[in-house]
Amino acid sequence: MVQRIEAGSSVALRDGRSVVIRALDEHDRNALDAFGNTLPRNDILYLEDDFSNSEIISRLVNASYAENWRQIVATNDQGEIVAYAAALQLPGWSEHVADIRLIVSPAWRRSGLGRHLAQAIVEAARDLGVSKVIVDMLAAQTAGQAIFSRLGFAVEGQLARHAIDRDGNLHDIVIMSAFVRV
Ligand SMILES: CC(C)(COP(=O)(O)OP(=O)(O)OC[C@H]1O[C@@H](n2cnc3c(N)ncnc32)[C@H](O)[C@@H]1OP(=O)(O)O)[C@@H](O)C(=O)NCCC(=O)NCCS
Repeated sequence: MVQRIEAGSSVALRDGRSVVIRALDEHDRNALDAFGNTLPRNDILYLEDDFSNSEIISRLVNASYAENWRQIVATNDQGEIVAYAAALQLPGWSEHVADIRLIVSPAWRRSGLGRHLAQAIVEAARDLGVSKVIVDMLAAQTAGQAIFSRLGFAVEGQLARHAIDRDGNLHDIVIMSAFVRV
């Protein structure tokens, strides 16, 4: 049985606020739903996981103990979810690779939380036993690219008009990766 992030760790942010970073659990359905409601329409259009869709929220919460998936959240003093990250181990010949997702609620951005959570989810991916982590995002999402390149990720490729948003517009995506020690 692999080790899991059970206990929350408190993190002080640059703006004086603090959050607890912990594993998502089966009681988080309403909190994750509420988190989805804090995301701007643009984020909802572009994110791979549609946080405005209650079926997707259920799928994520139901997977909170899946062996091939690590999901972590940051919560504020009221216990509200203010950021979410996931590492999903890929199947088959890419079983040594995990795919990372990261999203911070707008009111909590630019305080270092994205960077903290990115570090935590890379650790969680290592805990899955993978040796490579990848993250993909729209080419226009430069903040995410800044975070992951600071963590040592390199751009591995760009796919033209590979993502379609919920308004039907096509976007280029950037794939970044890093090799991690198991
Ligand atoms: C990307 C995202 C997670 C960043 O969260 P955050 O909490 O604001 O990130 P941080 O405060 O840790 O910022 C880290 C660095 O990213 C860069 N950055 C963050 N926001 C930025 C912005 N709006 N414009 C330019 N650079 C930005 C900066 O280099 C920043 O470091 P600095 O504040 O020391 O200059 C957040 O903007 C988000 O959820 N975006 C939508 C989803 C997404 O794009 N996810 C990433 C790929 S999965």
